[in-house]
Amino acid sequence: MLDLESLLREATVAIAEASDLKSLDDARVHYLGKKGKLTESLKGLGLLSPEERPAAGQKVNDVKVKIQTLIEERTEHLQKNQIAAALAKDTIDVTLPGRRQSGGSLHPVTKVRERIETLFTQMGFMVLDGPEIEDDYHNFVALNIPELHPARAMQDTFYFADGTLLRTHMSPVQIRTMKATKAPLRMIAMGRVYRRDFDLTHTPMFHQLEGLMIGENVSFADLKGMLTEFLQAFFETSLPVRFRPSYFPFTEPSAEVDMQCQNCKGEGCRICKNTGWLEILGCGMVHPNVLKHVDIDSERYTGWAWGMGLDRLAMLRYGINDLRTLFENDLRFLRQF
Ligand code: FA5
Ligand code: MG
Repeated sequence: MLDLESLLREATVAIAEASDLKSLDDARVHYLGKKGKLTESLKGLGLLSPEERPAAGQKVNDVKVKIQTLIEERTEHLQKNQIAAALAKDTIDVTLPGRRQSGGSLHPVTKVRERIETLFTQMGFMVLDGPEIEDDYHNFVALNIPELHPARAMQDTFYFADGTLLRTHMSPVQIRTMKATKAPLRMIAMGRVYRRDFDLTHTPMFHQLEGLMIGENVSFADLKGMLTEFLQAFFETSLPVRFRPSYFPFTEPSAEVDMQCQNCKGEGCRICKNTGWLEILGCGMVHPNVLKHVDIDSERYTGWAWGMGLDRLAMLRYGINDLRTLFENDLRFLRQF
């Protein structure tokens, strides 16, 4: 038989040294488990004579009870420590000031968009959109830009392997609308467009507003009047505007509209490339070839269309001096609006 006294001493030390419930349980298994040291010594009882057995059995049992008691006491102690530690760690300091929730705000381009939508719906325009991934037909061919036409170089396009592309302007939406609704009609469409551009006034993704009006006796004078009215209503002041003859394959005659650069008030700076003006839109009378593509009788109907950079409008309205900051998502910038 084992030396029970030293077994008890050894167990007492091991239990006292167990620093957590896991190592305490290891100690229990080591002494009291099925293959534990004390269980081993019980097996030794069989070797004793019948007279010696009861006393020896009693001794083993005493040691077992002692070890069990020690383990129970230690368990209780460790559990208390554990609870105390958890309480100390999770204390809530109710005197700390609360965490503030900062309010979100609308992106400047979204604000411009909503404003435009209100202004045009008041004038009886439908608000529409089309797909961002377009086909060559709607983005170019139907707009009187056949394959290999030099005007394709005006917009550096992102193509996909299957020949589809990221729309380079919102004009494909006017094609889709004219096909679906026929004349007369008034519509605007606003959305994301993509080109390989990147500088102070150009980003690879930007937003355009496309507008279209088709009817009988619609003239360039209407276009000029409507756009001037709109720009005044939008900016709430009359910023200097100029119409400049230009070229688009899908309009004839065509013009571009510039507004005075608000960074230098027309003096000339690096944003306006020292011209004092910032181009905001292209426009013109819808080309008869385009009307032919959508089966509208160009003898009876005429119309005008324009396409405008929403980001440029945001730039002018809020005095932003680099278009790229609109898409960097720096909260310090966005919170100002
Ligand atoms: C067009 O995209 C024509 N589809 C507009 C049009 C529609 C003309 C209907 C006639 C009839 P343009 O490429 O000039 O035109 O672009 C129109 C406007 O988008 C520009 O005046 C400018 O304000 C804005 N814009 C063009 N490229 C960028 C860019 N990379 N980043 C930000 N704004 C841009
Ligand atoms: Mg242009």
